[in-house]
Amino acid sequence: MMLTRRPRRNRKSAGIRQMVQETILTVDDFIFPLFMIEGENKKEEIPSMPGIYRYTLDHLMVEIGECLDLGIKSFCLFPSLGEDKKDSMATEGSNPEGLYQVALSSIKEKYPEAVLMTDVAMDPYSSDGHDGIVKEGKIINDETLEVLGKMALAQAKAGADIIGPSDMMDGRIGYIREVLDDNGYTDVSIMSYSAKYASAFYGPFRDALDSAPKFGDKKTYQMDPANVKEALIEAELDYVEGADFLMVKPALSYLDIIKTLSDNFDIPITAYNVSGEYAMLKAAAQNGWLENDKTMMEMLLSIKRAGASAILTYFAKEAAVLLKK
Ligand code: PBG
Repeated sequence: MMLTRRPRRNRKSAGIRQMVQETILTVDDFIFPLFMIEGENKKEEIPSMPGIYRYTLDHLMVEIGECLDLGIKSFCLFPSLGEDKKDSMATEGSNPEGLYQVALSSIKEKYPEAVLMTDVAMDPYSSDGHDGIVKEGKIINDETLEVLGKMALAQAKAGADIIGPSDMMDGRIGYIREVLDDNGYTDVSIMSYSAKYASAFYGPFRDALDSAPKFGDKKTYQMDPANVKEALIEAELDYVEGADFLMVKPALSYLDIIKTLSDNFDIPITAYNVSGEYAMLKAAAQNGWLENDKTMMEMLLSIKRAGASAILTYFAKEAAVLLKK
C-alpha cells in the first residue's frame, strides 16, 4: 500500500502527540464562580451541583486561599440572599455595606493578587426574580440601566477588577462604562455577557441562588438559542460601547458562537460553562455512566479550542488539581 500522507505518524507516541497538540488547557484559563450566603460558619452543598457550595464569608476566604494555592487566580462571586433583602428595585445590590460589597473588599484586602469579577444584574436582589425592573409585567430597559450603573459603581468602589453585566439590557455596557469613567474607575474592566442565551441549562444556578423568575421567562432579554447573527450584533454593540471581553453563555451547546465571535473580534472571548453543563456530567459520573475526570477535561478543552481565552467553570478547582499532577 503506497500512502504518502499518513496522519497517524503524528499520533504514534505520547511524545509526538504532545509535540503537535494544538490546544493546551492551563489553570490560567479558569475563572471560578463562587456562591455566597449571609451569616457565619456555613457551607451548604447545592443539591443539583454536587461539590459546589454556598459559603459564608469566613468559609469563602478559606476556599479562595485553597484555590490560589492551586494556581486559580480569578473568581466570580454570586450572592444568595434571603427574600427579606429583595425588593422590586434590587436596592441591596448597591448597598456599600451589603454582603456582596463587603465580600469584595474583604477578599481584596486578604488576597490582593486575586482577580475579582462581579455579576451585574438585578435577579439575586429582585423580588421579581428578573434581571431588570418589572413594570406591568414587562421588563423595562432604560430605567434598569440606572440600577445597573449604581450596582457596578458600588462593586468598583469595593475593589472589583472586572465588572460582569449578565442582564442583557440594551446599552448597558456604554452606560456602565460612562458611570465608571465619570467616577474615576477607568481601570476597572468590563466582561460583557454579550451572547447570553435564554437557556434551560441555568436551572441548577437558579436553585443555588433561589433566583428563578417569579413569572414568565427571560426571553425578552436573553437570546434565542436558534440565532447566531444576533450574537454578532450584540458583540459588535458591546465592543463599540467599550467592553474589554465578550462572553458567550452557555458554552457547550454554543461552541459555534464562541468560534464565530473569536473569528470576528480581536478582544478576548470568554465562555461560561454553566451550572446545567456541570450538573449533567456530575449526574452521569455518579451513575458510573461517564468518567468524570476525562470527560471534564475534554469539555474544557473543547471550549478553549473553539476560541475561548478564559472559561468560567465550576470545574475549575477539580481541573486545577488534575493539571497540577
Ligand atoms: C443571572 C445569571 C444567571 C447565570 C449567571 N447570571 C442565570 C439566569 O440568567 O437566570 C447562570 C449561571 C449558571 O447557570 O451557571 N443574571
